[in-house]
Amino acid sequence: MAINNASHILIAGGAGYIGSQMNKALNNKGYRTIVVDNLSAGHREFARWGEFHRCDLGDVEGLRSVFAGYSISAVMHFCAFTYVGESVEDPQKYYINNVKNTINLLQVMREHGVKRFIFSSTAAIFGNPVEIPIAENHPKEPINPYGRSKLMIEQILEDYAGAYDLRYVALRYFNAAGADPDCDVGEWHDPETHLIPLVLDAALGARENIAIFGTDYDTPDGTCVRDYIHVADLAGAHVAALEHLGGGGQSDAFNLGNGKGFSVREIIDAARKVTGKDIPVVEKGRRAGDPAVLIADSARAMSVLNWKPAHADIEEIIATAWRWHQKLYREYKKSPF
Ligand code: UFG
Repeated sequence: MAINNASHILIAGGAGYIGSQMNKALNNKGYRTIVVDNLSAGHREFARWGEFHRCDLGDVEGLRSVFAGYSISAVMHFCAFTYVGESVEDPQKYYINNVKNTINLLQVMREHGVKRFIFSSTAAIFGNPVEIPIAENHPKEPINPYGRSKLMIEQILEDYAGAYDLRYVALRYFNAAGADPDCDVGEWHDPETHLIPLVLDAALGARENIAIFGTDYDTPDGTCVRDYIHVADLAGAHVAALEHLGGGGQSDAFNLGNGKGFSVREIIDAARKVTGKDIPVVEKGRRAGDPAVLIADSARAMSVLNWKPAHADIEEIIATAWRWHQKLYREYKKSPF
């Protein structure tokens, strides 16, 4: 393959929810991108910018041939399985995809002299919080294989950065939410387990109601509190991390949220207001493994990366998700809702 000498950013998982938003953000900023995705969870229609290669990170030879075709200045890595419950039932699946396949990616990066890496980490590395809000130095004691798989990679990155000429940024997302404000890409998981899209399903009539998992938590209204961060703000943080590394910045890890928590009931109420729909609720027991409260302290990302969320308002977050959700059913799922 002839080498394309213009420098590219490789986005592993660029056909997924957050990766596709990232791909758009980078192209809008004038970067050239290559999406690598096996389409197991991503959607080919979402890889709308840059170049696309269907490749599994388990396929080292396939990765090598993608890397051989370009000059790559940095890799952003969004590929992972993310269902906590599934990770408990089938940990091998998580350790192979989230850990082994990430090691493959780092190996091929080394072979090709690619030295900058931005990693999608998660609030799940902290386990049950002992302090709210959660800062970067909060104890890291994940309570499920999903969280452990992400923490392992953070530890591997520390070792690789110490031993090899690699600089990285790990970005620990709290609850990714919302959709592209232009509605080009958005959330489409199968199965869907996240609160906001399921609430919007109930608003559309695509499901009868929304189940509240647990009403007896030690929170003001008894339901779990989460810190919802807009997907475009997550993409903005990655751009800032890329510029941090490009400007010679040190390897680092940052927590990303808005620093404000909303309960499940508050999210449902906000969705009622945004959609103007009645959203029926059923109260159920707790879902295993849910901490009562997760709120980020993102002060370091703001000071070191000079990052600031632009879509922090919860009704705005839900409004972008709502516009996308209607388009998803109309144009992609071709369903009456
Ligand atoms: N919830 C409901 N009903 C639903 C779905 C969710 O009440 O039908 C509740 C959950 O119990 C939780 C809150 O809504 O309290 C948010 O749940 P999500 O599934 O939307 O998000 P999580 O907080 O479980 O997940 C996020 C990330 C995961 C990460 C996890 C770490 O999406 O990748 O935080 O705890 F692993």
